[in-house]
Amino acid sequence: MNAIGRNRINLKIGQWQNDLEDGNYYQTWYPIHLARELKPGQIVGKEFLGTRIILYRDAAGRAVTQSAYCPHVGADLACGELIEGEVRCAYHHWRFGPDGKCTDIPTGDKIPPGARLHNYPTAEKWGLIWAFHGDKPSFGVPAIPEVEEEDFVGITGERGERPIDHWLSTSNAFDFQHLRALHGLPHQAEPKEIDETPHSLEYGRGQNGPFRHHGKVTGTNTFAHCVKTPQGEHFMLVSSAALALGKSLSFYVVGVRKSVAAEMSAPQLEAHLDQLVANAVKLYTEDEPVLFSIRFRGPAEGNWVGADRHLAHYFRYLREFPQARPFDT
Ligand code: FES
Ligand SMILES: [Fe+2]
Repeated sequence: MNAIGRNRINLKIGQWQNDLEDGNYYQTWYPIHLARELKPGQIVGKEFLGTRIILYRDAAGRAVTQSAYCPHVGADLACGELIEGEVRCAYHHWRFGPDGKCTDIPTGDKIPPGARLHNYPTAEKWGLIWAFHGDKPSFGVPAIPEVEEEDFVGITGERGERPIDHWLSTSNAFDFQHLRALHGLPHQAEPKEIDETPHSLEYGRGQNGPFRHHGKVTGTNTFAHCVKTPQGEHFMLVSSAALALGKSLSFYVVGVRKSVAAEMSAPQLEAHLDQLVANAVKLYTEDEPVLFSIRFRGPAEGNWVGADRHLAHYFRYLREFPQARPFDT
């Protein structure tokens, strides 16, 4: 999908910039690539957390995410090749295994102990490759409420690069005023309660009635929901990777339960999923003019009112969220 290049970042981040210390990023699962576009034998280089990473598949087909700059003199390993399941640097042909260790220096020199790549914990779910910012994930890869991946049929897509930080788009999910005012979603009623854990905020569990909206933020950057209406039930996940300060890469997943898909003909299912994609794109399209030009005023600077209490909750949660400086920055 299109990357939007106009309106370079015009965000006054205010106090939120201070919450995220200079050079730090939140320690969350970031979606970084469409799984179907990571082909065996290929090394993909990407911007991530203010530095660069490489992605490839190991001999068993598992996705690997590693720091991109060669520990020798710093060539970008995306210029290299995958040889027998190992990354070979283009510059002097040092090799690195999927565990990050240097395995060979063609000159026969002793391998220095620091000659290793940083491995990001990596997972594949919902059609996306996810990388965790940290040595060990402190929570699981984001879920979609009320459906497991094996019971799900859907479409995963990439919205593209956006000139905003991911926390701004995620805060949208807790801005219930805007759901009605900007998106015209009258049924997305405000929740009475939000269940909080150190790595998630969730509302709408166990609701009854013709309209049900069960939403969940996982980490700082993923929002997923299950919406039930008299017309049926559908699921959506939106998430962004932090590429650099003020720059993110957004992905979406939409779909239905497998048992529901099984009752449709192939053209019906295709049309239904296309409609769900169109609905997701409509939300992006309505949000982007506002989010790309906002001078965000947090609760201390703006005139926040009672109806902003859930938005304030998200920002309180964000303030407590673990953050760290990325490898190689
Ligand atoms: S820079 Fe990579 S092998 Fe020398
Ligand atoms: Fe929105």
